[in-house]
Amino acid sequence: MNEILKSADNLFKESKYNISLLANASAFLKEVIKEINWVGFYLFKDNKLILGPFQGKVACEEINIGEGVCGYSFKSKTITNVENVHNFQGHIACDLATNSELVIPLFKGLHPIGVLDIDSELFNRFDENTIELIKRIADLIVKYYLI
Ligand code: SME
Repeated sequence: MNEILKSADNLFKESKYNISLLANASAFLKEVIKEINWVGFYLFKDNKLILGPFQGKVACEEINIGEGVCGYSFKSKTITNVENVHNFQGHIACDLATNSELVIPLFKGLHPIGVLDIDSELFNRFDENTIELIKRIADLIVKYYLI
């Protein structure tokens, strides 16, 4: 885990632009987290979440606060691990092949950034260790995100 975090830190700390930071972060996560079919960001803007840099198939452009797994995670400020998306009321299906999903809310202090969203075709893809690793990568993204 430490090697991955060191690589992430080295990559992110060079970044001068948030859009580039998030674009590289999504590509980095796609490389290091196996068996995922979508990874990317929804960013808080105009009181909703809008699609940001991602890796994967095309996705919906806007999510209302409180809606879907992303909106729920952002509003409640809780890491949300959905083992089976078909059992999550209000789940927004962008890709019918997705079966599990992890969403990490991103806040820099009180400043809302948005969410990091990761989908997998596997059920229950995200175990405790994987969530911890992704959370620590998300912490680095927030650290180098300029507000
Ligand atoms: N499934 C998400 C929507 C975004 S896509 O997974 C890329 C949700 O329910 O919020």
